[in-house]
Amino acid sequence: MTKTYNITSIRQDFPILTTQVYNKPLVYLDNGATTQKPQAVINSIVNYYSTLNSNVHRGVHSLSQQATTAFDVARTTVQQFINAQHAHEIIFTKGATDSINTVATSWGFTNLHKGDVVLVSLMEHHSNIVPWQMVCNATGAVLKYITLNADLTLNLDSLDELLAQGNVKLVAITHTSNVLGITNNIAHIVSKVHKNGSLLLVDGCQTPQHMQVDVQFLAIDFYVFSAHKLYGPTGVGILYGKENLLNAMPPYQGGGGMISTVSLDNGTTYATLPHKFEAGTPNIEGNIALGAAINYVQSIGIDAIQNYEHDLVVYAQQQLLQLPEIILYAPTADKAGVLSFNMNNNHPFDVGTLLDKQGVAVRTGHHCCQPLMQHLGVAGTVRASFALYNTIEEIDVFIGALKKTISMLS
Ligand SMILES: Cc1ncc(COP(=O)(O)O)c(C=O)c1O
Repeated sequence: MTKTYNITSIRQDFPILTTQVYNKPLVYLDNGATTQKPQAVINSIVNYYSTLNSNVHRGVHSLSQQATTAFDVARTTVQQFINAQHAHEIIFTKGATDSINTVATSWGFTNLHKGDVVLVSLMEHHSNIVPWQMVCNATGAVLKYITLNADLTLNLDSLDELLAQGNVKLVAITHTSNVLGITNNIAHIVSKVHKNGSLLLVDGCQTPQHMQVDVQFLAIDFYVFSAHKLYGPTGVGILYGKENLLNAMPPYQGGGGMISTVSLDNGTTYATLPHKFEAGTPNIEGNIALGAAINYVQSIGIDAIQNYEHDLVVYAQQQLLQLPEIILYAPTADKAGVLSFNMNNNHPFDVGTLLDKQGVAVRTGHHCCQPLMQHLGVAGTVRASFALYNTIEEIDVFIGALKKTISMLS
């Protein structure tokens, strides 16, 4: 039987959740943009600066060794969380965007040539489009787009057709859409991509906070995500890559920490993984706090979180579908924490502003997915996105605020 959890005590772990907005209790439904932080993560950062602060992998002194140990433990925590085979396959970056840029630049400039093809989908975040546009423009490779079905799921026939056209070196696809909440069937996609002899990069920004991810089971080549969407700090991201692929890639940036030897006459030799890709002093406290965030999530249980959030999303979706003024995008039962909608012809910004006045925080706009907005034929949407601490009562407040907004705007 799947574990459940006590939502009242969980909410007490997040100090910001008692905040008032316009004298109303905050209902925070912008978790797709960034999640709030539990006390355990805040404590981890305070504790680091209060008791451990020192540079890592450099000092013989005790403090530096303790900081290094905590830093290395965080890497192992991430490794185990996504079930990577080796800790050195986990590269600490500034965020998912930085992780994708690392692969696009390092792998891309080494492996892409004129006429080669990279595939992305129409539901990608700009972070998984623009770096590929840049490297394709510079190398003469071609970027092609996998289309969507009428229900906005990924069109696997389009993937097959594009693969069959030849020369596809890499497919970069989101695990879960940050606009639609649709989770792509990566196991199915990876078999098609690998059968074609291509590599698969998966943008996991909206996934490991909602469900179990196993990079070995899924046989993914590169997996990226950001700590701040997983209850951890901003400015920290993960690039997972298979050892053989990372070993064959040149460093992305040069500097301290990523070298083996430097000589004015004989040039530089590089450190082994993961240090080869971690130039300069890292975000030490942030990486350690990501470890604390993962420990926190695991103490609740990712399956329990998935079940709990599933009930929330299904409930919210049922309520939205009862409002004739609401246009809900891709209303499928199986969504990972994200619902996008519009209210008749009203601008999403107006809807979001009126919800904010009632204490409800949602995201409005194109969500860094302009190609998807063009596909939907809209300038933007309103997005409500859920986390492990949201409640059915909060959804009732949100729906009540939405009804009031409808009457104000009609
Ligand atoms: C699906 C997806 N990919 C990439 C990103 C970029 O993440 P970051 O800004 O943390 O690098 C986001 C952030 O919203 C996202 O939702």
